Amino acid sequence: MLALKMNAEACFRVLKKIAVGIAVVFVALQFFRPERSLVAASDEEDLINVLPPPPGVRETLVNSCYDCHSNQTRYPWYASIQPFAWFLDHHVEEGRMHINFSEFGGLPPRRAVQVLEACGDEVAEKEMPLWSYTLAHPAARLTEAQRADLVAWMTTAAEEARQKLSKTEPIR
Ligand code: HEC
Repeated sequence: MLALKMNAEACFRVLKKIAVGIAVVFVALQFFRPERSLVAASDEEDLINVLPPPPGVRETLVNSCYDCHSNQTRYPWYASIQPFAWFLDHHVEEGRMHINFSEFGGLPPRRAVQVLEACGDEVAEKEMPLWSYTLAHPAARLTEAQRADLVAWMTTAAEEARQKLSKTEPIR
């Protein structure tokens, strides 16, 4: 009986140490602040202004894609808390690196076509928006209708951009 009590006490002490350790690490992590790149939005190069979509599609794009693929990221409150900050910044950085809709107008025409096509594909295959994002942002989850509208618009826009391009240079 005594041994059991000792064990429980020892166990409690270890748990307490672990808890304190986690708390210390958590606090220490808060001193690491990633640099945020909140670049001023240059509106005239924004996809939404370069190829104005119908209002419904525009809303879907901004709601479900722009946090990661534009300079207009709306950071949630927990974005200032580590380790979430790292996780979020990584997604935003990587998302913008692949596609930045705020700079769409500055893309070479061939790349613009590729981007529109890739978007249609990713959305149709339900790869985008990232599932971890929709977990925290249920409003960004696409309904079947929103998905279909977005894909249809991306496909048409890609087709039009491709035709315009084929007039200036032949595409395979
Ligand atoms: C939570 C952030 C996040 C959101 C929201 C998001 N994306 Fe992404 N997206 C990423 C990241 C990170 C990558 C690169 C890694 C990957 O492909 O998983 C990516 C990759 C892509 C790619 C592939 C690019 C390439 O070079 O092949 C496309 C296309 C894309 N996203 C379109 C979209 C569209 C359209 C939406 C909105 C419906 C969207 N994304 C929403 C983070 C995001």
